[in-house]
Amino acid sequence: HGRRPLVAGNWKMNGLRKSVSVVESVRARLTPDLTDRIDVLICPPSTLIASCVAAAYGSPIAIGGQNLHAKASGAFTGSISAEMLSDLGARYVIVGHSERRAYHHETDDGVHAKALAARRAGLCGIICVGETQEEREEGRTLDIVRAQLAIGVPKGATATDTVIAYEPVWAIGTGLTPTPADIAEVHASLREMLTSLIGPEAARVRILYGGSVKPGNARELMSVENVDGALVGGASLVAEDFLGIAQAY
Ligand code: G3H
Repeated sequence: HGRRPLVAGNWKMNGLRKSVSVVESVRARLTPDLTDRIDVLICPPSTLIASCVAAAYGSPIAIGGQNLHAKASGAFTGSISAEMLSDLGARYVIVGHSERRAYHHETDDGVHAKALAARRAGLCGIICVGETQEEREEGRTLDIVRAQLAIGVPKGATATDTVIAYEPVWAIGTGLTPTPADIAEVHASLREMLTSLIGPEAARVRILYGGSVKPGNARELMSVENVDGALVGGASLVAEDFLGIAQAY
C-alpha cells in the first residue's frame, strides 16, 4: 500500500517553555534507520509551536497544531487560523479531537470546515473520529465513525492533505484499548468508507490509532491491518516513551 507510518504526539494542554527539551531529546535520539521508515510529528500547545519548530529545524520531526479556526483571519478573539499555524512552520493540525468535540461543542460540519481551512493553508489535517463508551455498548461504533468521516472529510481529500485518526473516546487517557480485532474492524470500515468518499486515493491515506498507546502495547497495536501509525497523548510528553512507541516500527 506504500503508506508511510506516522507517529504523532499530542501534548494537549501540557507543557511550559522547558518542555521544548522533549523535542530536543527526541531529535537527539531518533536514528536515520527509523526516520527512513516513518514520519514523526509533535503537536505542542500553540504557545510552544514556534520554539518547537526551532528545536526541530533541519530534523525529520514535524511540528503541528492541535486545533484551528476555520476562517483565515478576523474578529475571533483567542482563535488561531491555519494560516497562522503555517506561518509558524507547523505542517499538520489535529482537527476534531474528541476533547474539542466534547468540551468545545465541535460538530462534524465544523470539522469539515476546519479540514478545508487546513488544506487551504497547505497544512495536513488529522481528522479525528471515535465512539463513546455508550455508543460502543449500543453496537453503534461503525455507524458513528463512518458518519463522522462522511461529513468531516472534504471532497477531493488526498493523502498529502489528510490523515484520519481513530480514537475511541473511552480509550483516551484511560489505559484501556480495544482489542486488535476491534481496531482492525473499525479501520477496515473507515478505509472502505473513505474509498466511497474519495475513490482510490483512499488506499494512500494514513489511518492512525489513538487511545492509551504506550511503549508496551505499541507493537501489537501498530501491527494491526490498516493501522498506519499512532496518535499519542500522555506518552508523548516523555521523550523516552514517545521514542519507544516510534520504535515499534
Ligand atoms: O490525541 C491523543 C489521544 O487523545 C490519546 O491520548 O494517549 O493519553 O490516551 P492518550
